[in-house]
Amino acid sequence: MKIVHVASEFYPYMKTGGLADAVSALAGELADRGHEVAVFLPGYRTAVAHPDATGAVRKLRLKIEMGDEFFSGQVRAFSPRPNLTVYLICRDEYYDRRNPYGNGERDYEDNAERFIFFAKGVVDTLRLSDLQADVVHAHDWQAALVPLLLRVAERRHGLTLAMKTIFTIHNIAFQGVFPARVFPRTNLPDELNNIDGLEYYNQVNFMKGGILFADRVTTVSPRYAQEIQTPEFGCGLDGVVQTRSEDIVGLINGIDTAVWNPAVDPLLPARFSSADLSGKAVCRRALLESQGMEPHYRGPVFGMVCRLAEQKGIDLLLANGDFFEREECRLIVLGTGAERYEQGLRELAARAGGKVALCLHLDEKMSHLIEAGSDFFVMPSLFEPCGLNQMYSQAYGTIPLTSQVGGLVDTVEDADAHPQTGTGLTFPATDEGLRNALARALRLFADKKRLSVVQKRGMSRDFGWKQAAGAYEQLYQDSL
Ligand code: ADP
Ligand code: GLC
Repeated sequence: MKIVHVASEFYPYMKTGGLADAVSALAGELADRGHEVAVFLPGYRTAVAHPDATGAVRKLRLKIEMGDEFFSGQVRAFSPRPNLTVYLICRDEYYDRRNPYGNGERDYEDNAERFIFFAKGVVDTLRLSDLQADVVHAHDWQAALVPLLLRVAERRHGLTLAMKTIFTIHNIAFQGVFPARVFPRTNLPDELNNIDGLEYYNQVNFMKGGILFADRVTTVSPRYAQEIQTPEFGCGLDGVVQTRSEDIVGLINGIDTAVWNPAVDPLLPARFSSADLSGKAVCRRALLESQGMEPHYRGPVFGMVCRLAEQKGIDLLLANGDFFEREECRLIVLGTGAERYEQGLRELAARAGGKVALCLHLDEKMSHLIEAGSDFFVMPSLFEPCGLNQMYSQAYGTIPLTSQVGGLVDTVEDADAHPQTGTGLTFPATDEGLRNALARALRLFADKKRLSVVQKRGMSRDFGWKQAAGAYEQLYQDSL
């Protein structure tokens, strides 16, 4: 099949979260299976400057209609592996910036224009380069206008650009909602600026367009596919999602085992497998030492890696700060995000007197070391479409403590409730839920035999993308 992916993040050219990992691993796996895969990404500074892109050829010059003006841009293409071509939609004014969506606390003012331009650039490239896609698969709000713009362009030019379109919701909390005045920039007919179109409480909602106009809609876990049809998790789009309930399916992400495999991970000081865990002990010592902690410390080490956002349950962690002050344990947190959470964590670290360490920046290597060197991984998300770190943890012999939401439910089973099969500790996403799970973690840690069984059981699970990519392949075929 000819498969086109459209996303605003793609590892290693741009990453702020799991979207980058998921799209990259899926596209790579599909390419390895012999499909012809194209990936469209904005021409961000980091993408254009990446060594893979140095030999990029300039494919096309773009002249994109944006309301009653035309904006120029260009498309650069390169092929980082067989069967995979990356297309960068470039316009320096929009994408030659340090961050993809905003500066710290505020989003860029021109995000609507930037991602309308991107979506139109994709559609124009498909048209002008005669790519003839079987499937065009768009991810999250930044790419959500593609299915609709593509069909409108087909009608206007009397041709077929794609047999089917797929839209995947990685996170419904980010919808791309903008003032109504941006609508004319889309050049879509006025009748799409209403309740059956992009209009949403007198604003324009990009994600709504993806949900309504793609042939099929997916989310990144079965549980999340159900959750977003309820007011509690739908972030105001639950009614819209319900209108597609026949066409929506939840397919769980995999993990990229070329990047996340403790047996070969080049970012670790030592490698390990369930047959020989001595390398994990080396990682543990290196982790503690990196934080100025006693490397031979024998108590439990809790790790955490995430965006410091409400979604990730930082409030629950902070509400349990007394646990880390009181109990004999260590906590190491890697994350960046909201200032109030950074401040709350700094206060906790100060109170806990050397037992809590913080790395408040982005650090790929450190994220691997925390996964490898910790005994437990804490993930108290309030909602979690899929989540990747709980799978990385299991692969790295680190027992995840996960709240019972979204993809966490689909990938972690509680080892107390299911002694024969459980690989983690799960809890309701509340302060008490986490408190209880932390206490259970101490008990599990004290029982070395059981700890080892749970740990090795997690390591033996197969979270590779093969199965996940197979499910997408099946979906593409069914839709065709
Ligand atoms: P989300 O996409 O909602 O942020 P996921 O669990 O799907 O959550 O993916 C998060 C990804 O981002 C993981 O690969 C995680 O290791 C990574 N990550 C988050 N924060 C950091 C950080 N400060 N440094 C390095 N990697 C990080
Ligand atoms: C989003 C979600 C996360 C998911 C990732 C990849 O960022 O927040 O749960 O794992 O997308 O699909």
